[in-house]
Amino acid sequence: MLEKLEKYIKENQEFVANTLDDVENFRIKYLGKKGIVNDLFEDFKNVPRENKKEVGQKLNELKTLIQNKINEFKSVFEESTTTKTGIDLSSPGEPFKTGTRHPLSIVRNEIIDIFNRIGFTISEGPEIEDDWHVFSALNFPDEHPARDMQDTFFIDNIERILLRTHTSSVQVRIMENSKPPIRTISPGRVFRNEAISARAHCIFHQVEGLYIDENVSFADLKQTLMFFAKEMFGENTKIRLRPSYFPFTEPSAEMDVACNICGGKGCNVCKYSGWLEILGCGMVDPNVLDNCGIDSKKYTGFAFGMGIERIAMLKYGINDLRLYFENDVRFLNQFKASL
Ligand code: DAH
Repeated sequence: MLEKLEKYIKENQEFVANTLDDVENFRIKYLGKKGIVNDLFEDFKNVPRENKKEVGQKLNELKTLIQNKINEFKSVFEESTTTKTGIDLSSPGEPFKTGTRHPLSIVRNEIIDIFNRIGFTISEGPEIEDDWHVFSALNFPDEHPARDMQDTFFIDNIERILLRTHTSSVQVRIMENSKPPIRTISPGRVFRNEAISARAHCIFHQVEGLYIDENVSFADLKQTLMFFAKEMFGENTKIRLRPSYFPFTEPSAEMDVACNICGGKGCNVCKYSGWLEILGCGMVDPNVLDNCGIDSKKYTGFAFGMGIERIAMLKYGINDLRLYFENDVRFLNQFKASL
């Protein structure tokens, strides 16, 4: 009996399980109803009294050993499979969701890229401005309606500190602080005291352009804007310039592109005119040059300003300005940036 026990103990010590089934078979073999341990306890009855103590100890040693082996291997396999934890460690991971760029950022980056390619630098100015940079230096008369609280958010009425209503204020700062040749665009956020609707918002974005040098002409302005329109909306894009008025340019114009929805035939987006207005522009008024310390006898220049929301609306067929600011991911996920 002792020899048998020694043999089983050795077998137990050497036992290695590769699967949970191996462990179960091992358990049945030793601890099952008709298993080895029960048989041994049967045999134990016949062991002579003087040997009982020694054999009994070995028998208990074997039983403990078996139980430990089973527990050890069970815990190893149960941890690494789904049976106990419900987690399948071999299944592929959750894909990581990356964000997308905001359509206004995409269009702003495209505008910057287009003008960069023809030598324009990028400049920025403050959103909180004074009357001089937003109005006075730009030739706005004192009684101009834009200076009214109805249109402008004033921060300090006495000192006339306000939220800029257009990025044209940056051209004043650039001209005050640098010497021609100047060739720069200024993207940024602007603010107007408007009720929010599908077509108007109190916060929006513009890109201002400024080119000052000797002999800059209206033909240069036209060529620059034509290049921009073709790069932005496609090689076959048609443009037209209509005479207009801005206090800071003379002559002034507004630029339209042929409606890309109806191809110029007329639809409800272009209000059946076949054209869509996209920017204001003109030759910088000599008064403005002089206000900013640039000799208007020696230098001329052109300026233009466009709304980023408007360009993005035309490019993507967006029909409500409020969508830009609501940050609904179902809207935002639709736009893919190439820049
Ligand atoms: N500042 C004008 C606006 O907010 C846009 C503009 C028009 C800018 C003509 C210019 C320009 O530089 O020459 O409506």
